[in-house]
Amino acid sequence: MKKVLVTGAAGFIGFHLSNRLLKEGFKVIGIDNLNDYYDVNLKYSRLGLLKGHENFTFEKASLEDKEAVDLVFSKYKPEIVVNLAAQAGVRYSLENPQAYIESNIVGFTNILEGSRHHKVGHLIYASSSSVYGANTSLPFSVHDNVDHPISLYAATKKLMN
Ligand SMILES: NC(=O)c1ccc[n+]([C@@H]2O[C@H](COP(=O)([O-])OP(=O)(O)OC[C@H]3O[C@@H](n4cnc5c(N)ncnc54)[C@H](O)[C@@H]3O)[C@@H](O)[C@H]2O)c1
Repeated sequence: MKKVLVTGAAGFIGFHLSNRLLKEGFKVIGIDNLNDYYDVNLKYSRLGLLKGHENFTFEKASLEDKEAVDLVFSKYKPEIVVNLAAQAGVRYSLENPQAYIESNIVGFTNILEGSRHHKVGHLIYASSSSVYGANTSLPFSVHDNVDHPISLYAATKKLMN
């Protein structure tokens, strides 16, 4: 049974992905810091549903906590990592820029390093269409230039692409 580490497992996409992986027969280790960027009760409800699966394990941790992330890698030895935990939102980056640096840059770096040191075979992460920023050509293409982000959210996503 393949082991998948899903970060942001209590989030919108992380929850649905974890649910699907469990149904497909994977073992899922979820990490989330359950922050209050939006209603925490929604995150707890999602976790409650996931915890009903015997192959789901949850660790409450922040990605920027390197020690905690390293511990998860050594304890569970995931073969696949899906990094979905991030500080999202374009407008909120004006209010709380630090959250973007911590989660999207420092946190993601800890995931990259954990994956490297523990020889993870497959790493998937989520970018954002906001990286296309001031581009005027539509529809966006992965071949477009992404050198003109217009928010810190986009800039942190672009940096880690
Ligand atoms: N939903 C969208 O439309 C969309 C579009 C483009 C990209 N994305 C990207 O997809 C990913 C998932 O998005 P979502 O909509 O599920 O977001 P979400 O906010 O619902 O889920 C993110 C989860 O990560 C957790 N989290 C945030 N920072 C963390 C940290 N430092 N450590 C541990 N946990 C942390 C949050 O508590 C939350 O539960 C993100 O990377 C986002 O940037 C989403």
